[in-house]
Amino acid sequence: MTTLDIPELALVALVGVSGCGKSTFARRHFAPSQVLSSDVFRAMVSDDENDQSASSDAFDALHHVAGLRLRRGRLTVVDATNLQPHARAGLVRVAREHDVLPVAIVLDVPEALAWERTQGRADRTHGRQVLARMQRDLRRSYGLLAREGFRKVHVLRGVEEIDAAEVRYERLF
Ligand code: CTP
Ligand code: MG
Repeated sequence: MTTLDIPELALVALVGVSGCGKSTFARRHFAPSQVLSSDVFRAMVSDDENDQSASSDAFDALHHVAGLRLRRGRLTVVDATNLQPHARAGLVRVAREHDVLPVAIVLDVPEALAWERTQGRADRTHGRQVLARMQRDLRRSYGLLAREGFRKVHVLRGVEEIDAAEVRYERLF
C-alpha cells in the first residue's frame, strides 16, 4: 500500500492524462464537495464540459471557488489534467495567496490503457494524437512540479499502485 501524506489543509492537484483515472480517484478518496472538476466548471459556464474554448472562463471560476474554500480552511482537490505549467501555476498562486500548501498527486498509467479507456467513453472524443501530446506533457511535468512550488509530489505508477493508495492526513500543528 502507498500512503499519501497530505496536510489537513492543502490544495491538491491531480495530475495525469485523460483516462488515467483522476475523477475515479477523486471520488474514491475525497468528498464530492472537496473536488473541483474542470469538466464541471466548463459545463457551468458553457453547458458543454468538452468545450475547450470555455477553459479560460472555467478556470477563472474554479480558481475563485478554490480560493474561497481555502480561505475557509477547507481542503480542496482540483480534478483537471494539470499537465501544463501555466495551468499548475494558477493553482500554486491560489494556494500561496491563502498560505496553503500545494500538493500534487500524479497518476501515471500506460498510454495504451488510457487510450483503451478513452475509446470506451461516450463523454470523450479526443484522438490518439491528443492523448500522445498529453503523455509528453506528463513526462515533462516530472522535472517541474517541485520547482513550480508543489511541496509534496506523490507519484502513483500503474493501476495497482493507484488502486492500493490511501490518503493519510497530517496535522498541521
Ligand atoms: N476506470 C477504470 N478503472 C479504474 C479507473 C478508471 O476502469 N481503476 C475507467 C473509468 O470508469 C472511466 C475511465 O476509466 O470510464 C477513465 O477514468 P476517469 O477516472 O474518468 O479518468 P480521468 O483521468 O478523470 O479522465 P479525464 O481527464 O478525461 O476526465
Ligand atoms: Mg475526469
